[in-house]
This record gives sequence, C-alpha cells and structure tokens, in this order.
Amino acid sequence: MNFRNEKEVEGKFVIHSLLPQLGVGPSRWFQEITFGTIRLDFLVVPLGGRSPVCLPNCLILEAKHPKEPLARHTRRLRRYMGQLGINYGILTNGQELCFYQQSTLVFKVPALGLKTEHIQRIRQVLEPGMGRPSSLFSVEQTTLAYPKKLSMQVITVYHNKGGVGKTTTVINLAAILSKRGYQVLIIDLDSQSNTTFAAGVMKFLTEEEDDLRDLNVYHLLSSKQVAIADVVRLGTFTNPPVQVVPSHISLTKQEYVLVNAPAAKSSLLQKLARVAESYDFVLIDTPPALNIFAEIALLSTDYLIVPSDLKPFSNEGLRNVQDFLVEINEARGAYLRSPIQVLGVLPSKIGTNPRFREHSLPRRLEAVKKYGFPIFESTIFERDDLAKALEKVTIEGNFDIPDPQSVLDFKPDSESAREFEDLADEVLAKIALHQKQGK
Ligand SMILES: Nc1ncnc2c1ncn2[C@@H]1O[C@H](COP(=O)(O)OP(=O)(O)OP(=O)(O)O)[C@@H](O)[C@H]1O
Ligand SMILES: [Mg+2]
Repeated sequence: MNFRNEKEVEGKFVIHSLLPQLGVGPSRWFQEITFGTIRLDFLVVPLGGRSPVCLPNCLILEAKHPKEPLARHTRRLRRYMGQLGINYGILTNGQELCFYQQSTLVFKVPALGLKTEHIQRIRQVLEPGMGRPSSLFSVEQTTLAYPKKLSMQVITVYHNKGGVGKTTTVINLAAILSKRGYQVLIIDLDSQSNTTFAAGVMKFLTEEEDDLRDLNVYHLLSSKQVAIADVVRLGTFTNPPVQVVPSHISLTKQEYVLVNAPAAKSSLLQKLARVAESYDFVLIDTPPALNIFAEIALLSTDYLIVPSDLKPFSNEGLRNVQDFLVEINEARGAYLRSPIQVLGVLPSKIGTNPRFREHSLPRRLEAVKKYGFPIFESTIFERDDLAKALEKVTIEGNFDIPDPQSVLDFKPDSESAREFEDLADEVLAKIALHQKQGK
C-alpha cells in the first residue's frame, strides 16, 4: 500500500493498521495533543494508565510524509521524549518504522512488515504486566554461560588524582559485565559528567536541549521521593545497553546543599538497597576529590578499584586515599557496614614503550607497594583506540551527534579490549574469592 501524504500515513497506517495491531483501543491514544510548546501527533498511554498524563512508559508516535527520511526527525523525537519524561517513541513515514527506547534505536523495520516479535516488543511497554521491556536484549544475554551471582555488588572506582582513567575503567568494565549477561547500573557522581557523556546519555547539542538538568543524580541524593528508577537513562555506549544514573555540571553548585543535609550521605546506600534485586553490579564513578560525592560513593560501596598511572603525584595521592579510607571505614560502622574491600590499584594509562615497560614500570609498581594496597595484575596500557571510541559520532541530517562507545563495542579485537577483558576476569575472581572467604 502506498500513502500519498502525511494525513494518509496518520489515518490509513497509524490509526487503522498500526494501533489495532498493537492492541491499542481508541481510549488509549490521543491525536494532536499539546504539552506547552510541544505538539505530538499521537500519544499512546499504557494499559491502566491515566490519560492523557505523561508516564515513562507512554509512547510518542510521530507520523511523517512518506518521502521524508526518518533520520531528519530523530533529534526532535528524542527531545520530546526527554522533555516529557517519556521513554518510548515511534517514528514512521508509512514506509519505515523506527522504535526508540530513550535515545536508543531498538529496531528499524519496513512499516508494513512488522513481525510478531516487533509487535510483542512494543506491547510489552504498553502492557506492563506482559514482561520486562528489555526482553529483546535478554535473548542475547540468556545464551551467555556466565553464572548469575547471588547478590548485587557495588564497585566504586576512585582516586583523588585526576585523569588517571577512572571513567575509562567504569565505562569499559560496565560494557564487559553487560556483555557477559550481568545487569549493570552505572552511577556518575562526578560533576564533570564524563561518564554520563561516555555512556551516550548526553546527546544534546545545545543547552536548551539539555534534558538532564532537572533529573539527575543530585535529585536522587537530595529527595527522598526520587528513586533510582526515576532517574536512570539507557546508556547506548554498549550492547546490551547499560542503565546510567546521570550526573550534571550543576552538581558543583549543589554540593553545599548536600553537605548541609545530614541524610544525603546515606541516601545512595539506602536507595541502592531497594534495587538489590534488579542489578548484579553497580559501578560508581567519582570525582578526583575528597568531597561529599566521593564520601557518598565510598559509604555505599562494597569494593574499591583505584586506577593509577603510577606517576609520583598519583602515588603521593594514594596516601590521601589511604587516610580517606580510614575515615570512611569509621563512618561505615555507624551504618553497620564492614570496611571497604580494596580490590587493588589498577595500573592505568601505562606507556607502551618497551624500554619503559622493562625498566621503569617494575620500579613504579614497587613504589606503590609501600602504600599497602593490593595491585592488579591486569594493566591498562595507553592506547589511541580508547580515545577514538569516546570520540565516535553519528551523522543526523547536518549534525554530528556524539555516539561514544566502549572499546569493546568500537574495536572488539583491539589490545585495549583484551586488557579490559583480563581486568574483568580479575575483578570477578577477586570478588568470588572474597565472597568465598565469607563476607
Ligand atoms: N589507557 C588509556 N589510553 C589512552 N588514553 C586514555 C587511557 N585511559 C584514559 N585515557 C584518556 O585520558 C583522559 C582521562 O581519562 P579518564 O577520564 O578516564 O580519567 P579520570 O580519572 O576519570 O579523570 P577525572 O579525574 O578528570 O575524572 C581521557 O581523555 C581518556 O580518554
Ligand atoms: Mg572521570
């Protein structure tokens, strides 16, 4: 069937074909509905949802002229979704149909060739009782042979020295754990928001499009009513995607509010306890500072990884980390938490020059020993692929949209990917050993 214009796409395709296929009756869809300056072609509300109220699992459906390339309209759809807090969107021109979950394209198919699996996928969103919305991805996950662990493990990546590879470690470790079939949550506690960017959650190009300002980790830490599920975004830096609690540059200004709010320090600990059934691993990225955000991370964590380039200032910084840990471990007592398990100092951004590796590296590793921390056998060397993976963009119309990837997704056969695989093996082995010895 050929549609001649947008009206026909809306009437003949969306209203008479697509919505009935999705099992959506007339009481659950609204046409030409306006929210402030946003006018939606269609809003579909989930079964049992109050209408026309925006809920995260509502669906925005935008119809275009049959000759309009859909790529030209994805930015606007994403903006609508972000501003209205709606997680799902469909864009169709009657020829093709794209289904989005947050900013991720879940599938693109011929509009008249929707298969049962695609219809089921969308219905899962609109009929919440039917199953977990992420089941398209879990098909891949269930084929992986890694055992499921018994309880959620929280790992913080911290060093008070900047630029040593904390964010790079969080992103790539999260990607591997997700590919191995674990449910992973990343929490970005650094106002620089580098993890939020690297996870692919910051795809806007202007301040006006910033959809993180009003819902980010600050709101999670400062308001009792805000739960992790309310703030998570889907990180597109890896496949299967990983959930991310985003940070925001305004966190710096909000620091004093949290310092003066006694409940803030333990807020993350308490909120994580409520999602213990949902995740296998939580990875927390921290700022290069001894501030309240580092404190919150270390109060909430089970394990600690300390990436270090092993240079003199980084080594001297380890003394600060040591002193900070003493303080934090004392404070943890008040929350009936045992001391943090330091998994180790991770040699990171290490030069690949053979002479350096042979002569200087062993001396630098030796120098770290006096701080008393275990040292990882895995080493993350300095390699260009890591920067390139972060700089990846996709072109949408005239715009380069940031589309950063983990190095595992960008170049799965690279040396960096192998180094992070080794690191993941070592982290999992250390955690398993610790659990066996009785936590
Ligand atoms: N192994 C590596 N090889 C090459 N470049 C790297 C490597 N690790 C990190 N980088 C680059 O170094 C810079 C700092 O890395 P990263 O952001 O991971 O450090 P960080 O400790 O999180 O920094 P900050 O303290 O500012 O949060 C980034 O540009 C990153 O791409
Ligand atoms: Mg960082």
